[in-house]
Amino acid sequence: MHAFVIEGGRRLEGRLRINGSKNAALPILAASLLTDQPVTLRDVPDLADIRNMLGLLAELGCPHSKRDDGGLALRVTNHSSSHARYDVVRTMRASISVLGPLLARRGVARVSMPGGCAIGDRPVDLHLRGLAALGASISLDQGDIVARAPAGGLRGATVFMGGPFGSTVLGTANILCAATMARGETIIESAACEPEVVDLARMLTAMGARIEGAGSPRIVVRGVDQLGGVEHTVMPDRIEAGTLMCAAAITNGDVTLENCPIDTMIAAVDRLACAGVSVRPASPTEDRLRATVRVTAGRYLAPIEITTQPHPGFPTDLQAQMMALLTLAEGNSVVTEKIFPDRFLHVAEMARMGARMFRQGPTVVISGVRKLRGAPVMASDLRASASLVIAGLAAEGTTTVNRVYHLDRGYERFEERLNALGARVERVGDRTLAPNQPAGSEA
Ligand code: EPZ
Repeated sequence: MHAFVIEGGRRLEGRLRINGSKNAALPILAASLLTDQPVTLRDVPDLADIRNMLGLLAELGCPHSKRDDGGLALRVTNHSSSHARYDVVRTMRASISVLGPLLARRGVARVSMPGGCAIGDRPVDLHLRGLAALGASISLDQGDIVARAPAGGLRGATVFMGGPFGSTVLGTANILCAATMARGETIIESAACEPEVVDLARMLTAMGARIEGAGSPRIVVRGVDQLGGVEHTVMPDRIEAGTLMCAAAITNGDVTLENCPIDTMIAAVDRLACAGVSVRPASPTEDRLRATVRVTAGRYLAPIEITTQPHPGFPTDLQAQMMALLTLAEGNSVVTEKIFPDRFLHVAEMARMGARMFRQGPTVVISGVRKLRGAPVMASDLRASASLVIAGLAAEGTTTVNRVYHLDRGYERFEERLNALGARVERVGDRTLAPNQPAGSEA
């Protein structure tokens, strides 16, 4: 088990390239199960969750190899096993992404029901309702979801994907994959509009799928008999980019980010601008999905209001990181979490560093303080751990963030990348870890 020991008060300066998106890559990897042809993926980040997914795909008969150019080559060689086992799914709930592709291509899928995680309950009822609408029979056996397509295969239908907290990103990915090979037309109403769904649709279209409306609340899919191989470059990670913007801003830094998907970050950039953080594209004409942007912040941060929403609203995956930044704003900020109302495990840890926060249900008021003080803190989930690192970068003295295995799920060599910008972060053996730590990933 590792911890980060962070020496605070150092300004971040320099240039960094944003990695490929974890949340785009996971369903895209699962979509490799839809074809027997070769799939080549570029810019897949080297993360714990990605390695878990690759291990699952190998168990499902879809091994991978590393290409000389750094890309990943995958190809299904065996259709005999369609069982995503509990001990794989419980460590990474995004394993649910194999459900739709397995059902579409093999007619059967057995996937362990993902449990909850640190950021809240993580139901999959919308996934299952959507697949049932396409004709699948769904049952639960020993904690596993067992889905079977009818004899003639899945059939197109109108599927409503809206839930009490908006749509579902991985649920939309599952239905989208299943619909590509369903007979007839499928309308996915109240589809997730996240850029990662658009990236998946780009890849599926290149494989021969017929998809319209990806990125809008209504996606229309016309089923085809089979899908071909593809070469696809995964979109940049907007959450890594937003995390680094907060890290630059809290240190009054001056950081240039390359390969930044600024076009998918308008809500986040808007909130940062209101807080006094400038995010400027280096040139207006370049590809706004892979832009170069310069991030600077003044010494004083203004308090703001944030409410997390489905895309194009402010992303829940940047809520904790923005909270860390706002602990030093000149006044009271208000953050309301509408996607995962309990996604606040970072609040108590930041309070140990002198942050002043007052939670009322899904809303937290952050009363800005003049400074944070370093302290030992405990990471609980992926984005909470990132927020504690951000707070540690600005805090006076030393901060130890324990259980950074959470961080390694979604950030590649994070301490090396921060140190390249002038931070002083050391990865050490965990100092306070209790012998048994919870399994389960929120991602
Ligand atoms: C994806 O999770 C992301 N993970 C999450 O990022 C992200 O927080 C989330 O979307 C929301 O944007 C990946 O893409 C791998 P949802 P997903 O289904 O698809 C409720 C990170 O930090 N819901 O869109 O699992 C659910 O409880 C991770 O990188 C149902 O009610 O999330 C939540 O309140 C964390 N029924 C809301 O919808 C369902 O069947 C959104 O969940 C499914 C979801």
